[in-house]
Amino acid sequence: MDNRPTLGFVGAGKVGSTLARLWFQTGYAVRAISSRNRAKAETLAEQVDARVVATADEVIAAADLILLTVPDDAIEPLAASLQRESLMGKGVIHTSGARDASVLAVLAARGALTGSLHPAFPFADVETAVQRLPGATFALEAESPPLRGWLRDLVLALDGRVMVIPPGQKAVYHSALVIASNYTVTLYAIAERLLTAIGAERDAAEGALNTLVQGTVDNLRETGIPAALTGPLTRADAGTIRRHLQVLRQIDPLVADLYLQLARLSLPMVRARGVSTELLQRVLDQEA
Ligand SMILES: NC(=O)c1ccc[n+]([C@@H]2O[C@H](COP(=O)([O-])OP(=O)(O)OC[C@H]3O[C@@H](n4cnc5c(N)ncnc54)[C@H](OP(=O)(O)O)[C@@H]3O)[C@@H](O)[C@H]2O)c1
Repeated sequence: MDNRPTLGFVGAGKVGSTLARLWFQTGYAVRAISSRNRAKAETLAEQVDARVVATADEVIAAADLILLTVPDDAIEPLAASLQRESLMGKGVIHTSGARDASVLAVLAARGALTGSLHPAFPFADVETAVQRLPGATFALEAESPPLRGWLRDLVLALDGRVMVIPPGQKAVYHSALVIASNYTVTLYAIAERLLTAIGAERDAAEGALNTLVQGTVDNLRETGIPAALTGPLTRADAGTIRRHLQVLRQIDPLVADLYLQLARLSLPMVRARGVSTELLQRVLDQEA
């Protein structure tokens, strides 16, 4: 017996369109789509053989599992605006990384099985995402076992991996992704600014940094932590660290402080590689 839920989407943007198309391709039935902009809902509905409906309530009526794939700030008002009294047997989830399942509490109170499923993937545009999303990791938050089962199967249908997020921990999860993804870009921008400030052409600076960042990501993939950490800390080169801090303090004290904090946070990895951190620790304490 096919116990796959039928699907409905509220929000035919990048995430909703990508997921609807991929799950449709793997055999899930997509029953109904609604979106603020009806033309977007029509385009998607045509691709996944679904009906376009005018309201989120109609999507809920048509499907077993409803995905609210709308911007983060629209999720709670959308949930609050739903008219349907009983939601028994319905699954309603959102795909935000930053918000947790509690934003759907008004729906849980009416019997819905609520949760969230966040693809840890950057959706730049739908066509690229449809090609590249399979195999991605999804953060799954769902207290009810039947909903968890539905969501697990949906992820597995995309050859994806599931990371279960305990209740109340979504903000920690999302902060980790922001640190790894967004702040890598910030660190890159700081490095580029330092290089161009001493006269490097932007192209040359980016060429150097791209090779370094790519090599670091490759090392992380191949050897992981702590082996992927290279540089003066792993050589216990305290004099080099001191000189870096001295020049950075003259250029931008905030960057010097960031460097110091990152060095401190790196010391456990240095120790894990069998390098003594006593001298480094002393230098960092003196420089603080
Ligand atoms: N983009 C990413 O990389 C990414 C990754 C993982 C998770 N997410 C999450 O996935 C969710 C959707 O993000 P997205 O990138 O797909 O956003 P998006 O491309 O802006 O799409 C959002 C869609 O929701 C529609 N919409 C907005 N308010 C609505 C409402 N009240 N009722 C019905 N439809 C409404 C929009 O319609 P209009 O087009 O008419 O405005 C748009 O089609 C967000 O929670 C986001 O945090 C995003």
